[in-house]
This record gives sequence, structure tokens and C-alpha cells, in this order.
Amino acid sequence: MLALARQRTASSGGHLLQLVRNFTLGYEAFGEDAASNLKGKVVLVTGSTDGLGKHTAALLAQQGATTLVHGRNRSRVQRTLRELRSHTANPAVYAYCYDMSSLSQTRAFAEHVRRDLDQHFDGRLHCLINNAGVFNEELVLTEDGLEETWAVNVASPFLLTASLIDLITERIINVTSISLSEKLDFDNLQGEKEYGRVGHQAYSQSKLALNMWSFALAAKLHKARHPAVVHCIDPGAAATKVLLAGWGEVAHSVAMRAYECSDEEWAVRDPALARCTGRYWVNRKPRLSPKFAHSLTAQQRLWDILVQQTGTDFVLPQQAVAEA
Ligand SMILES: NC(=O)c1ccc[n+]([C@@H]2O[C@H](COP(=O)([O-])OP(=O)(O)OC[C@H]3O[C@@H](n4cnc5c(N)ncnc54)[C@H](OP(=O)(O)O)[C@@H]3O)[C@@H](O)[C@H]2O)c1
Repeated sequence: MLALARQRTASSGGHLLQLVRNFTLGYEAFGEDAASNLKGKVVLVTGSTDGLGKHTAALLAQQGATTLVHGRNRSRVQRTLRELRSHTANPAVYAYCYDMSSLSQTRAFAEHVRRDLDQHFDGRLHCLINNAGVFNEELVLTEDGLEETWAVNVASPFLLTASLIDLITERIINVTSISLSEKLDFDNLQGEKEYGRVGHQAYSQSKLALNMWSFALAAKLHKARHPAVVHCIDPGAAATKVLLAGWGEVAHSVAMRAYECSDEEWAVRDPALARCTGRYWVNRKPRLSPKFAHSLTAQQRLWDILVQQTGTDFVLPQQAVAEA
């Protein structure tokens, strides 16, 4: 099931890669007889070739989940697949290679996952974790003319989620951050006016936008009686490429090792998240987002922009809409 799509190299600087190369996954932390309470669940973790996504995928596989891993670099995807299968002794790990800075690749990724779900997994995806993310120090435009942070952190997860929405049965977990802007500058979403200080504005704006479309989606799904809940989580500070790109050496003093963080895995399992929707969680507790994120007018404006950028809207299953 490994898709062989066009490759792109990571945009992070070489020195940062050097710093994070010594990451080890915390396989040993799971123990050999980890509970298999996720057996029968199918979970897709985007951006699971490194950092928090890779660790989360490993934890899920260890607990018996059918785990769909994803990345943009073919050799890293293959290595992750090999490592997870051998370290977790779970053969039900499958891999996808698509670059989410490209909308056409994200569309192809969704089609590939849909085909596999239909053919092998009863047409059901229990949980989608939109984890893939970047922090760029300089403005990079994608082939679609979008600013890359926006494309990877906001638009592509919107497109992927919309393309799979009828198959998702339990949870959509969007990995945001505590680093949120107070508001969106609708005239500068693609760095048109300015890119901001070494990428912070683009990054924190992207995470606010992710919160905003998540809240809007949660309301739409709830209204349509769709079974899936939508949550945003800050995964905690881990010294990964993203943190090092944005916060440099200081990242090491505030961050845990990636393998000590497991809030994404917690978000898949914790029953509290199944009983509510549209929440933003920090340290496993609900947290208020900036007021702007809850403005229905701003949410709708953002939604319209994303529909226009991605050429895709959420089409909710007929049955759910009819019952609403
Ligand atoms: N680390 C923190 O302290 C922290 C705090 C708050 C939020 N977050 C969020 O946590 C999430 C995971 O980040 P991380 O910290 O674990 O960073 P990371 O180690 O750099 O992992 C990011 C993952 O996303 C993948 N990715 C990046 N661009 C992609 C693209 N264009 N297409 C497909 N995959 C792509 C990366 O692939 P490669 O392996 O090819 O690079 C990698 O697998 C991000 O959404 C980040 O914003 C992290």
C-alpha cells in the first residue's frame, strides 16, 4: 500500500536535522505486553515519519490499532513502516507517501486511503489525526501558489478531512499549538503583505486557522448528527524539527523528548473526548481559544476561503443530513 508519489525534501535547515537526528522512539516505554485496547480501530496519522506523529503512530500500533502512517519522503516512510512493524510486532501498519504542500497530492492521498479503507478495512476510518506540520523561517510558495505553512498546516488537512469525512466514524484530532495568533489577518494569510518575524506569524496564524475550521466543522457535524467528534490539541513541547525551527536552541530547555509526549495518543483513547466536540485541549485539559476563533463570521469567512483554495467542501452523508 505504499504510494510512490513525487518526493520533496524537508525544508528545515540541515543543522536542525542534525540536532534531532538523535531522536529515538520510546518503544521501550510501551512494554512488551501493552494493552491491545485499540485492536479493530483504524487510525491515520499524517506526518508520522518523525517527531510526535511517529511516536504517536508507534504507540497506537503497539496497542493493536491498524495504523496508517504517512510522510512526504519515500525512504523515511519506508523506514517508519519497517520500524513500526518490527518494534511493535503489529503487522497492521501501512504507509502512504504524499507531499501535503501540494493539493493534488493531498487529493491523491485521500483517494488512496479511501480505496484501501473500502477494500481492506470495512470502509471505516475510526480516527484521523491531522498531525503533519511545518515551521518555515522564510516565505515559501507552493505549486498551488499558497504559502507553504498555510498549505501544510491548514488547507491540506481541510482537504484531506473533507475528502474522507463520510468514512470517519469516531474522531478527528487536529494538532494545533499553544502558539496561536490572537486573530487572522485576512489580507495577509499567504504572506502577501509581510511574512513576519522568521515565520512565527505564519505558524501561529496557521494554528489559529486550524482551530477555527475545526470548531466550525465540529458544529456542522454535530448538527448533521455525524458520528465523529472534532478536537484540537496542543501536543506539548517536544524538541522536534518544528520546535527547533521556530524556537532554536531554547527549544531544548523547554521541551521534552518526543517519546515522553503522548497527548495525541491520549486524544485517540480518552473517553472524555468522545462525549463532547469542538474543544481545544492543552495538557489534556480544555482551554479557551482566543475570542476571535469563536467568531462565527470569521469562521465562515475562513471556511469560504478554504473551499475556494482547495476546490472542496464537506459533503455530509445523506443519511446524517436527512436525520438532522
Ligand atoms: N514539537 C512541539 O513542541 C510542538 C508543539 C506544538 C505543536 N506541534 C505540532 O505537532 C505536529 C507535529 O510536529 P513535530 O513537532 O513532531 O515536528 P516534526 O518532527 O518536524 O514532524 C512533522 C511531521 O510532518 C511531516 N511533514 C512536514 N511537511 C510535510 C508535507 N509537506 N507533507 C507531508 N508530511 C509533512 C514531517 O515529515 P518529514 O519526516 O519528511 O520531515 C514529519 O513527519 C505539527 O503539527 C506541529 O505544528 C509541535
